[in-house]
Amino acid sequence: MTHQYVLILDFGGQYNQLIARRVRECGVYCEVKPYNKMSVEDIKQLDPVGIIFTGGPQSVYGDGAPSISSEIFELSIPVLGICYGCQLMAHTLGGKVETCVTSEYGKTETEYDTSSLLFRGIDEKAVSWMSHTDYVSEIPQGFKNTARTENCPNAAFENAERKLYGIQLHPEVNHTQNGSKILHNFLYNVCGCVGDWTMENFAETQIKEIRERVGSGKVLLGLSGGVDSSVAAALLSKAVGSQLTCIFVDHGFMRKNEGDEVEEAFKDWDINFIRVNAKNQFMSKLNGVSDPETKRKIIGEEFIRCFEAEAKKIGTVDYLVQGTIYPDIIESGTGDAAVIKSHHNVGGLPDYVDFKEIIEPLRLLFKDEVRKLGQELELSDTLVWRQPFPGPGLAIRIIGEITDEKLTILQDADWIFREEIAKAGLDRGIHQYFAVLTSMRSVGVMGDGRTYDYTLALRGVTTTDFMTADFAKIPYEVLETCASRIVNEVGNINRVVYDITTKPPATIEWE
Ligand code: XMP
Repeated sequence: MTHQYVLILDFGGQYNQLIARRVRECGVYCEVKPYNKMSVEDIKQLDPVGIIFTGGPQSVYGDGAPSISSEIFELSIPVLGICYGCQLMAHTLGGKVETCVTSEYGKTETEYDTSSLLFRGIDEKAVSWMSHTDYVSEIPQGFKNTARTENCPNAAFENAERKLYGIQLHPEVNHTQNGSKILHNFLYNVCGCVGDWTMENFAETQIKEIRERVGSGKVLLGLSGGVDSSVAAALLSKAVGSQLTCIFVDHGFMRKNEGDEVEEAFKDWDINFIRVNAKNQFMSKLNGVSDPETKRKIIGEEFIRCFEAEAKKIGTVDYLVQGTIYPDIIESGTGDAAVIKSHHNVGGLPDYVDFKEIIEPLRLLFKDEVRKLGQELELSDTLVWRQPFPGPGLAIRIIGEITDEKLTILQDADWIFREEIAKAGLDRGIHQYFAVLTSMRSVGVMGDGRTYDYTLALRGVTTTDFMTADFAKIPYEVLETCASRIVNEVGNINRVVYDITTKPPATIEWE
C-alpha cells in the first residue's frame, strides 16, 4: 500500500491503542506490534518513517523488564519514547532511571522548552497527564532537557540531531493539553509525515486492489446489517459489483423493522442480495428452550445451515469476505502468546463453503475508521451509526424461553427506548443501549385493576472496547419518559428497571 508507516512498539502500556488512534487521527497510518516480536531486521523491512515506544507497567531494572536492542537507535529512524518508552530509551543509551521520590499520577503542571520541534507552537506552561513511579534522573550524553515538572526534572529530553525524543508525559490522553499537537509535531516536524492516510485514499486503493485480486471471480459475503459487514459489502460492491453475492440471514430476532431496513439499504446496489427469511425455522428449533447457552448454540448452528443452503445454490465461489477489523486481529499485550480478542459473530467462518481465499478488506481499520469509510462510500447513516448488536439478536435479550408474543413486546419496548434516547440526543454518546425482557412478573396496578405482568430492563453502557463497560448515566427525566411510554404503549409490561451494573462483574448482555 502506498502510504507512510509509523511503527508503535508496545511495551504493555494501557494506552497503546489510544496512541495508535491519535496517530491515525493525524492522517498517518500506524500499526501496534509487541516489542518482543520485532527484530531490528523486521523493523528495517517495514521501513517506518517513525517509531513510537509505548508506556508499560514495569521498571527498566525489574526482573524480565522489556528491553530493546540499542541498534534500533542507529537506524536513522526518528523515535519517540513515551513513559516507560522514554525510560527505556534513556536506560539503553547510558542515562539513569530511578524511583521517584514522589510518584506522579494525574494532571501535572508542566513547563516546556518550545524551541524543541516537538513542542513548537504549544504553551510554555500547560497541564500534562503523568502516570509513573520511576523517572529519568540523568539523561544520556548528547541529549538535552526540554520539559520539567515539580517532581520530574526530565519530563522530556531529546537529541534532535539523531531525532530521538523521550517524554515522560502521555500526549495521547485527552487530559494532556496540546497532547495531539505534540504527536502531530513528532509526526510532521520530525518524521516528515505528509498525512497520506485518508479514507478517500484508502477506499480508492482498496477498490483497485480488490479488483485486481478478484479479476472475474465470484465473491460471497455474509451480511448481518452491522457496521462492519455493511461497509465491507459497500466496498466490495464498488470494486466488483455484480460479482458479489451478499447473503443476509434474517433469523427473525432483529430489532423492530431492522430486517426491512437492511434490505432497503442494499436494494439499489449493483450486487446480488439474498435475504433469507428464516424466522419460522429458528423459532421451531428454539421451541421450549430456555437455557442461554443452548439458545446461542442452536442459533449459531441454524445460522450456518441457512447460510450453507444459500451458498450451495451459488455453487463454488472464489472469495469469501470477512468483516474482520483491526481490534479483532491486533496482537495486544507483550506476553509470548498474542492475545486475540475473541469475537463471537454468528456464522463465524463458514468452513463448509467451497471457496479459495478470504478477503478481509477492513483488517487495518479501527471501528471509527470503518464508519468514516462507510460515509466515504455513501452508506446510509442508519447503517454507518448502527450500535453493536449480538449475532443471536433479541433471542438473548428475552430471558428464558422465546415466544412470538415476547418477541413483539420486546421489539416494541426497545423501539421506544431507542426513540427516546435519540430524541434526547444521547444516541452517539451511549455506545450500546437496549431493552431486555426479563422472565419475571410482578404485581402492579393500572386504573383500578391489579396487573401481573413482565418486568422490562433497560441497559445503556459506555465503553471503549466492550471488554469493560460502565453503565450510562442517562438523565432521570429520559428514563422516566421511557418507563411511562413503555408501560402505556406496550402491553404486558407493568414495571421498568434500569441496569446500573458495570462490566465486570456483569456483562453487557444479560444472556
Ligand atoms: P458481553 O455481553 O459479553 O458483550 O459483555 C460484549 C459485546 O459483544 C456483543 N455480543 C455479541 N456479539 N455475537 C456477537 O456478534 C454474540 O454472540 C454476542 N454476544 C454478545 C454484545 O452486544 C456487546 O457489544
